[in-house]
Amino acid sequence: MAHNKNQKKPLNICIASAEVAPLAKTGGLADVTAALAAQLHRDGHDVRLLMPCYSRIDKSKLDIQPVNFLQSVPIRMGHRHGEFSIDTATLPGSTLKIYLLRCPELYDRDAIYTSSEEEHLRFILLSRAAIVMCQYMQFSPDIFSCHDWHTSLIPLYLKSIYGWDGLFANTRSVLTIHNIGYQGVFGSGILPDLDLGDAARQLHQDDLRDGQINFMKTGLLHANLLTTVSPTYAQEIQGDEYGMGLQDLLRERSNTLVGILNGVDYREWNPETDKHLPANYNSSNLAGKKSCKIGLLKDLGLAVDTDRPLIGVVTRLASQKGIDLMQRVLPSMLSKRDFSLAVLGSGEERFEDFFQRLQHHFPDRVCFYRGYNDRLAHYIEAGSDMFLMPSVYEPCGLNQMYSLKYGTVPIVRETGGLADSVEQINADSGTGTGILFKSYDEAGLYWAITRGLKLIQNQRLWRQVMLNGMSQDFSWEKQTQRYVDLFRALGNQ
Ligand code: ADP
Ligand code: GLC
Repeated sequence: MAHNKNQKKPLNICIASAEVAPLAKTGGLADVTAALAAQLHRDGHDVRLLMPCYSRIDKSKLDIQPVNFLQSVPIRMGHRHGEFSIDTATLPGSTLKIYLLRCPELYDRDAIYTSSEEEHLRFILLSRAAIVMCQYMQFSPDIFSCHDWHTSLIPLYLKSIYGWDGLFANTRSVLTIHNIGYQGVFGSGILPDLDLGDAARQLHQDDLRDGQINFMKTGLLHANLLTTVSPTYAQEIQGDEYGMGLQDLLRERSNTLVGILNGVDYREWNPETDKHLPANYNSSNLAGKKSCKIGLLKDLGLAVDTDRPLIGVVTRLASQKGIDLMQRVLPSMLSKRDFSLAVLGSGEERFEDFFQRLQHHFPDRVCFYRGYNDRLAHYIEAGSDMFLMPSVYEPCGLNQMYSLKYGTVPIVRETGGLADSVEQINADSGTGTGILFKSYDEAGLYWAITRGLKLIQNQRLWRQVMLNGMSQDFSWEKQTQRYVDLFRALGNQ
């Protein structure tokens, strides 16, 4: 593509991620890497996106082709001599090619993440293969974009065992923190598997003495730029409450830590075009939303009473998401107040049991769908009146932004990206988009739900709040530009 003088040169960007939607997803990481890569590609940058070819990826709709010069590439990891191959396919919903790292010994497992003794090898391989892929392609990245602990070793690898290669002389590494709660901490017995040689000195030495290697910490030490997925989370993780032990390091690097709110892929998440819904709607015609509510209540086997407020929840059932607070508040609230609840999620057994019991107690008003279901996630967003996300911490959170677009008023805890994307309703002025509560306790959540149930009675105000939310723009077009501006600034340093 020819570029005139006023246009800036497109960037070469290599992205490595453990999850990319829709191929392999446990949470928002997958949505974000897919949407960011696709948008960078649409904007004309040269993007090489690599992920593991897990056996559980549904390959039936992908036209997978081997990359001829990347078959049976030998690699040594510690005492193991193995090999990997890289295939390519088109990322669904985009024209971007995605590269799939094939190594059946490591990626043919039941789940994306495992507790196997080889877990570290699975992501060491991803990190090194991303670099080797660039070498075989003679692709010199301006930016190496790493995501969470799984690819956090790349910055150190680029500086150490691959530092001899002039291909990377101008490469800058960027580590994006999606969730500091997962750091990839392994016993120091894995040290030989890292193949760092003398560069092992550049690992965190106190950790090594304590018998540990922390992948994310290694990335925080060596990446040229650190980003995280909301401005508020960028601040929060520098403090004791949210830093999960990495706060001191993050404070030391605070001038290279930037928060960029995630975007929403409105091709996927738009009530006007959503193929998962029985009826579509938009801000000038909300009739379809009511049809979605009726359809959802029927499908879930709940009493069909359109006046009774319906609260939706779609989440990983992990403590991060505030499930224990729901446990303490929802049973008594359901006994005292008239509302229904549609919950979709899977995760920790104790939380699954809780929602199962809740459904058993309130069969007409509570439905719990245990598992992962993309269609139902869309349907709950559309059919609910409110969406509940009382997270302990939330680096960004996507569902509250989906809710806004679907005219479903979010009830969220004021933390991380939730605080950055939802604005408190002001009943007098009719401004705001949702309900935020601060303190993580029963009183806080009780107050927030009660307020939602009260405000929804004021139909004019509620409609206004829905429209306020629907008019918000969290598109990736805008957010990607922020990444590109940072990437370019990094190149000029
Ligand atoms: P996190 O990444 O911490 O789980 P996010 O809000 O960033 O939180 O992203 C969660 C993503 O995963 C959203 O796209 C949401 O719709 C989806 N999701 C979570 N649980 C389920 C589920 N049980 N079924 C379908 N989609 C789910
Ligand atoms: C993480 C966070 C979530 C964020 C997502 C994508 O899983 O928990 O808040 O939206 O990554 O960045």
